[in-house]
Amino acid sequence: MTVTNKADYEARIDRILISESEIKQALKRCGEELSREYNGKPLLLVSILKGAFVFLADLCREITIPCEVGFMAAKSYFEGTTSVGNVEITYDLAQNVSNYHVIIVEDIIDTGRTLAEVVRMLKERHPLSLKVVTLLDKPSRRVVPFEADVSLFTIPDHFVIGYGLDCGEYYRGLPYIAEYKSDL
Ligand code: IMP
Ligand code: MG
Repeated sequence: MTVTNKADYEARIDRILISESEIKQALKRCGEELSREYNGKPLLLVSILKGAFVFLADLCREITIPCEVGFMAAKSYFEGTTSVGNVEITYDLAQNVSNYHVIIVEDIIDTGRTLAEVVRMLKERHPLSLKVVTLLDKPSRRVVPFEADVSLFTIPDHFVIGYGLDCGEYYRGLPYIAEYKSDL
């Protein structure tokens, strides 16, 4: 669906759950910790498109050691705001991960299906090490058992938008995380 009306667009932005400054603070701390932990090691940050592109862009600017970035796209199928199961890798990494310590940078872990599949795939390629850092975690929604190594915010079972996360491809550019208002 195409949205062009600003008032309709804004009407669906509900309560702000995590503010811009809270995100910034958490990222700063995370960047410092990762810079310390991976100092002297070949580091590759892998972002899962599209949702994690904003998080990766900000996180890599808080990392003070040399690192490369890489991109993968995984599509999990949705009916409305609910994931229905299948995960397809639609765009693959250019780098050979066996040369790197890899950190997967993800926007949100919901059912766990996407990351369970991406981690399984990447492990088969034998990275020097593999860690998962997620901005958001909705543990109450897990279908597949999965735990991130680092999770910056745990949130309740609400569909959220902003800071890379979309609803129908909109709202990715909001600088904060908000709840999405599905019924007006
Ligand atoms: P999974 O259910 O853990 O496989 O998550 C799949 C993907 O669904 C995430 O990487 C997000 O892109 C998307 N997703 C899950 N929950 C939300 C949400 O609350 N808002 C926006 N996207 C979401
Ligand atoms: Mg995602």
